[in-house]
Amino acid sequence: MKKIWIINGPNLNFLGIREKGIYGNDDYESVCEYIKRQFNLKIFQSNYEGKIIDILQSAYFDKIDGIVINPGAFTHYSYVIFDGIKSIQIPTVEVHLSNIYKREDFRKISVTAPACIAQIYGKGKDGYVEAVKLLLEK
Ligand code: DQA
Repeated sequence: MKKIWIINGPNLNFLGIREKGIYGNDDYESVCEYIKRQFNLKIFQSNYEGKIIDILQSAYFDKIDGIVINPGAFTHYSYVIFDGIKSIQIPTVEVHLSNIYKREDFRKISVTAPACIAQIYGKGKDGYVEAVKLLLEK
């Protein structure tokens, strides 16, 4: 069985509290449960850039087959996470709950997506499901 990890970046633990008009009413735990009901996988969350790199590097040592990452706002400026994804050579899909192309200009740029095999956005929690399916098909 393929081993898939989901990594969520800063402020995603605040789902259900933050900007509900954009991210919806579901809280973080219920989004995780929704995904885990469908797949047997591990979900990580951190508000710290370095911690996300530690998780990516653990994925390498644990021989993980695919990664789904929502880097939160790090998406828009973190070359550290770009390098981290490139370093581990594990197929990675970037997910955003919201449609980042229909929001502020700064969100239209993803510096991390070029390190990924695909980017899924604007589909809410189902974006994670689609991303996992894509990695399982590979
Ligand atoms: C987000 C979009 C980012 O621009 C934002 O900083 C987030 C969440 C999303 O899932 O839509 O924290 O990644």
